Amino acid sequence: MSQATTTATKWIRKSFIGETKLPVVYEPAEEKELLELTDWVKKNQKEWREDLKNYGAILFRGFPIHEATDFQSILLATEEKLGEFYLGTSPRDQVVKHVFTASELPAHYPIMQHAEMSFLDNPPKLLFFYAEKASETGGETPLTDLREIYKDVDPKIKEKIEKHGIRYRRRYDGPSNKARFSLWKTKRWDEMFGTTDLSEVKKISDENRFQLDWFGIDSLTITNEQSGFRIHPEAKTKAWHNHSQTFHYQAAVSEVWKIFKRQKTFRSLGVALLLTLLTLIKRISGEKSHDVHVTYGNGEEITANEMKSITNVFWKHLVAIPWQTGDVLIIDNFSVSHGRLPFTGPRRILVGWSE
Ligand SMILES: [Fe+2]
Repeated sequence: MSQATTTATKWIRKSFIGETKLPVVYEPAEEKELLELTDWVKKNQKEWREDLKNYGAILFRGFPIHEATDFQSILLATEEKLGEFYLGTSPRDQVVKHVFTASELPAHYPIMQHAEMSFLDNPPKLLFFYAEKASETGGETPLTDLREIYKDVDPKIKEKIEKHGIRYRRRYDGPSNKARFSLWKTKRWDEMFGTTDLSEVKKISDENRFQLDWFGIDSLTITNEQSGFRIHPEAKTKAWHNHSQTFHYQAAVSEVWKIFKRQKTFRSLGVALLLTLLTLIKRISGEKSHDVHVTYGNGEEITANEMKSITNVFWKHLVAIPWQTGDVLIIDNFSVSHGRLPFTGPRRILVGWSE
């Protein structure tokens, strides 16, 4: 840790881990009860929000945060309107009202950098993570500063996004398919919408500008468009803000080779080789077979080389700090992205968000 910053509260110490200024770490200088922390969060909105605006993320470490309800009490202390409905691609389970498991995807899967729900018109402002159980190895939730990513991405790619935006296409099986995991699909549309009522599905889709195309027995294609960049509502900074990394077939394969270089394990090599092969099959079988697909807003493909260069920019800026059980991370979702590195051993990371 280095470079302590000042705080008006004597018992909260602020510092950074190593050279990076992402996140700023808050630690208790003396033993404190959870109630004292939630009180502090409630009463010192200006101070922590200012840090969040500047640095993009705050890590609370060393506080007595033992379970999901403790975590939820911090979320409530922010006095934000909290989310309880998730329109994303990842399989998630609700733990308590505003707290979900971060992802039920298998341990060896990588999750590429993304801003939470950036494919929606109104993505969450703040994102909260809690390490109920940190994994033995790996399993970091790496972060990047999306304002820096925006500056660094190839100007030719940015120009195309500026002009056309980004188009997403997701395909979901319906209730007739009972398997939770298939090779390319992560969840069913009824799990995502939380209902099998088609008029409700239509209503939610209209609110989110989702175009629905039904096919097969009860399968669904959802198409929608976003600008690809976002201006921070308060700071007015511009950030890279899209799901190209999690939707493009090339991103996962680039990611697993980066992970192999980082983790240097037989498993990560196996995953990289297998995914390289699967991606080749995916490329040959064409985009119609993909569960998720992303293009420029005019339908033009984002090429594999363009995607590789985007992945390189992300990895140049990637900050991966190992979790400690009890950690709580607050992320400004308009400035900072997150992902997940593969892990071993039991791991339980919980998530919540503000609307
Ligand atoms: Fe996420």
